[in-house]
Amino acid sequence: MHRLETTMSSIEKTSPPLHGSRFPDILIPGWFSSHKLYERVVNSATNDSVLVELGSYFGESAVYMGKLLQERELDAAFYTVDVMEWDDWMNEEAWYNTRQEIRDHAWLVANQGKNLEAIIRFHLDKYGVEDRVRLIRGDSIETADRFAADSVRFVYLDTTHTYTRVRNEISAWHPKIEPGGIIAGDDFGRDDDNDGGVRRAVREAFNEYTTDGTTWYAVKSDG
Ligand SMILES: C[S@@+](CC[C@H](N)C(=O)[O-])C[C@H]1O[C@@H](n2cnc3c(N)ncnc32)[C@H](O)[C@@H]1O
Repeated sequence: MHRLETTMSSIEKTSPPLHGSRFPDILIPGWFSSHKLYERVVNSATNDSVLVELGSYFGESAVYMGKLLQERELDAAFYTVDVMEWDDWMNEEAWYNTRQEIRDHAWLVANQGKNLEAIIRFHLDKYGVEDRVRLIRGDSIETADRFAADSVRFVYLDTTHTYTRVRNEISAWHPKIEPGGIIAGDDFGRDDDNDGGVRRAVREAFNEYTTDGTTWYAVKSDG
């Protein structure tokens, strides 16, 4: 693939680590660890910004973004995209979380019939951010068609971490990013398909990108 034009600003080179939550009271099972990246995105966003994440799971990262927008009283349009099809691996996550989260999780699964959309909406409501987060039920690549070229300030790739999926998500979404906007994702270094996973897809796609822990991101060039 021809490498996409990206740049790295001096701020990004000197920024502190990307992990560490501003809202530690958010107790939702999940793996989210790109808190500082979300904060930076919100700090540089405006009311007209369009922000997208691909992969909602139970809504942890979506609630976090909703909280940040609420705190800054920002009316940016934030979309979380997921196929919202239940899969039994989704239950396992509960074991990695605190006792409170396990209780919440058990309650949700038992009472909401393994319905991912209902679980996400429950969490948006529980944390008071239902008006800050727009849900899209759909495939992460097909959904890119709904957005105009150069219109998206930020897209975060967090669905299946196979090489092919991440490569195709980058191809679908990079044209939608506005100049100076950010394309990012999770699980850099993870390999779901024995074919290089996220790392290979990102390395091949961008001439410049940054990683911190499992988070990667690249800034779309102005020109
Ligand atoms: C790693 S989880 C997302 C984690 C989430 N950001 C969080 O904070 O917990 C991956 C999600 O991607 C979704 N997914 C998998 N394949 C997808 C696809 N082709 N299009 C959209 N979503 C997909 C799954 O349903 C799952 O909820």
